[in-house]
Amino acid sequence: MQAREIIIKDTKLVVRNLDRDDLNQVCALSMLHGWTSSSEDIQVMFDTQPKAFIGIFREDNKLVGHIAVFLLDDKRAYIGIVVVSKVMQGYGLGKILMAEATDRVGARDVSLDSTSDAQSFYRKMGFRNSPIQTLSFTGKRKRIENLEELSPNVIIKDVKNKADISQVFDYDMKICKFVRHKHLQKWLAPSPFCFSHVAFEKQDGRCVGYVSARKLDAGIYKLQPLYADSVEIATALFQHLVTNCPFGDDVMFRLYPTKQAMPHAREFSRLNGLHEEGAVSDFRMVKGQDEVIDWRCVYSTSNTTSTAL
Ligand SMILES: CC(C)(COP(=O)(O)OP(=O)(O)OC[C@H]1O[C@@H](n2cnc3c(N)ncnc32)[C@H](O)[C@@H]1OP(=O)(O)O)[C@@H](O)C(=O)NCCC(=O)NCCS
Repeated sequence: MQAREIIIKDTKLVVRNLDRDDLNQVCALSMLHGWTSSSEDIQVMFDTQPKAFIGIFREDNKLVGHIAVFLLDDKRAYIGIVVVSKVMQGYGLGKILMAEATDRVGARDVSLDSTSDAQSFYRKMGFRNSPIQTLSFTGKRKRIENLEELSPNVIIKDVKNKADISQVFDYDMKICKFVRHKHLQKWLAPSPFCFSHVAFEKQDGRCVGYVSARKLDAGIYKLQPLYADSVEIATALFQHLVTNCPFGDDVMFRLYPTKQAMPHAREFSRLNGLHEEGAVSDFRMVKGQDEVIDWRCVYSTSNTTSTAL
């Protein structure tokens, strides 16, 4: 987009695409407003779609508002990290950011995850609440002794490089229903903040599941994505993860299952010592057709903490 100037309350501001150099400011501003995305996650989102990020800056290049609009395919888009700095709230910047984002969305269906406080703002912008509600499960590690018996036909491998990541592409596509190879390459890349493992059927080498644990906050990792052919395979993946990665005993793991996966998630959580935490603080909102995609599985990086459960 072309950078453009606006005047708000006699102050000259610039609306433009964000550069990589601006991401530190995005982390700082979003954290001030309750986001728990790590800077690594924001980097991953940026690397996946650099043009997704729009910011509003003061003349001294101080960021005062930002938004990200991810165009997933020609039918779907997702809006995230909508923030206007406290001192600039109420002057129409949120509306300007949403208008820029909506322009890019075009005729696509669009969804977002809102805090309870921001719902009225989004309603004004034409969004409505989606029926999708997500529960979360949280807990510390629990070792299972008889793992071999639980899933005897499965081999678990660490994800170490791009070739390993490509082994989950077909499996992921079957579940997620669209192609997101580029995203997965960025998202699952091993780092001190992200550990991933793939499960293969011993006999024919078929991929039968994969898990990624991403750092959400100090001492908290989310298990996302966690896909497997059975609860036993999901358990084998998780147990391999907690045994082989340097998490330490006090780390909490959090799981955000989709509604369809809820019975499996309950069983998985029971086996692995996670407990149900209640509804997450975000509210899914949509514009266009009703949303069927689990967006948390696509860009599951923008969990906010500003609202009580
Ligand atoms: C939500 C937020 C982005 C709105 O930005 P803003 O610049 O203050 O909003 P605007 O001034 O553009 O307001 C646009 C309209 O929405 C209304 N509005 C803004 N925030 C609102 C709120 N929390 N509740 C109800 N209405 C609200 C305004 O009154 C205005 O209405 P009008 O067009 O009838 O005059 C901003 O308050 C914010 O960053 N909050 C903290 C972070 C956050 O909650 N982000 C969203 C999380 S999903």
